[in-house]
Amino acid sequence: MTLPARFTLDPAFTVGDVDPRLFGSFVEHLGRCVYTGIHEPGHPEADEAGLRTDVLDLIRELGVTTIRYPGGNFVSGYKWEDGVGPAEHRPRRLDLAWRSTETNRFGLGEYIGFLKKIGPQAQPMMAVNLGTRGVAEALELQEYANHPGGTELSERRIANGDKEPYGIRLWCLGNEMDGPWQTGHKTAGEYGRLAAETARAMRQIDRDVELVACGSSSRSMETFAAWEATVLAEAYDLVDYVSLHAYYEETDGDRDSFLASAVDMEAFIEEVVATCDHVGARLKSPKRINLSFDEWNVWYLSRFQQQADAEPLDWPEAPRLLEDNYSVTDAVVFGSLLIALLRHADRVTVACLAQLVNVIAPIMTEPGGPAWRQTTFFPFAQASRHGRGRVLDVRVDSPTYPTRAYGEVPLLHATAVRGDDGTVTVFAVNRGRTEPLPLDVALHGLELTEVIEHSALAEADPDARNTLDDPERVTPHPVTTTTLTDGTLRAVLEPMSWNVIRLGADGATATGDG
Ligand code: AHR
Repeated sequence: MTLPARFTLDPAFTVGDVDPRLFGSFVEHLGRCVYTGIHEPGHPEADEAGLRTDVLDLIRELGVTTIRYPGGNFVSGYKWEDGVGPAEHRPRRLDLAWRSTETNRFGLGEYIGFLKKIGPQAQPMMAVNLGTRGVAEALELQEYANHPGGTELSERRIANGDKEPYGIRLWCLGNEMDGPWQTGHKTAGEYGRLAAETARAMRQIDRDVELVACGSSSRSMETFAAWEATVLAEAYDLVDYVSLHAYYEETDGDRDSFLASAVDMEAFIEEVVATCDHVGARLKSPKRINLSFDEWNVWYLSRFQQQADAEPLDWPEAPRLLEDNYSVTDAVVFGSLLIALLRHADRVTVACLAQLVNVIAPIMTEPGGPAWRQTTFFPFAQASRHGRGRVLDVRVDSPTYPTRAYGEVPLLHATAVRGDDGTVTVFAVNRGRTEPLPLDVALHGLELTEVIEHSALAEADPDARNTLDDPERVTPHPVTTTTLTDGTLRAVLEPMSWNVIRLGADGATATGDG
């Protein structure tokens, strides 16, 4: 048996409070995320607005908070006006980002209606188009959405059926403007000026809006870090967040490196924090810029690129695009990415799982048919449910394993969150593919006496996945051998597993997940 991995938990040593917005997601006009994903008039489960109630139920169960909209690459060519007013008058347009036809049957008002149907936890995060458009159109959108009434644009919203302003506070100033694939791609200097001017003007309407400047679309961009520094030199005092995007996939059969993807994600976060603080120091500013990790996931991007290059799309409506079917291996990596976000909860205060339905998503649907949970659904739902409170500082002492991409990597990746009720939840991944990993956790000053539950996601078949034909093939299962005695938690983590271990004082209510 492998030597145990260990760490100590002590309430005196914390990272920071978890912002509920860490459990955000993302709905883009891309493939079937909107159409036949969340919106499918005529579906047996659709409500009067055409929203699929089976999908709304799963979104609530998933526990998402903030939902970013409408893109993504899509937003860089989008005219928000196309998506408001009577549906029968809305134009059909070419969507250059995904070579699709956009019908505009779903737009801003429908998005706000969708959030309301989910519940008060679902808050808007709206991106403005800084690719083909600029300051004026961003202001018009803000006025249409948020001004109470008495102006042409706010009265247009009211005439379109929404008397109450939408109250959108969180705005993205464009999307991935560093990427050459982006419609209206810009240099850091060009974008920094535009972001600053847009931010300044939007604050003239409402000084309390929260604004996200585009950071790098991945850590591997040639312009990474210089981009952030240049943009923030222009916009530091005017924005609140800088964005990060990261997608991971298994390449060349190198599963060991894939399982260590969070090493890259944590380094990315720490480098962006350092860059923000460097600019702050240069400007002698007491202000701190936080991080909006507003696109993250496992995505088999290289497969998509090969397919897109081989057969360019001929402008279909809502095609099947980016419909990755996630294995249990993908879910373990995904869980590790969640751990990376929680471990940096002091600076990452917004994060969006990209995306929500059908497109690299935890929820899948069939047009006219059912909706089901992918393997990645479970780590997200559990983290959102039990990962609220204060993150404890976890310094892991773990056996390591060799990886091609990152050298020696600890087998254990873990974090712990203390809830307001004093319970503690340990989230842990065993990256090892073949051996169980014993875990010993010393608990100092926490008054914890019992294991409420230990839920694990692991399968003998690492490629097991949920499908339309077998939608419940992979689900978390309970582990009953975990103990807490004399202030020490002892568990054995199955090979390649995601684990949620909830600890409480005697008599704590057990509401199990797995
Ligand atoms: O989430 C899919 C795409 O990934 C988004 O449209 C874009 O922002 C990113 O490159």
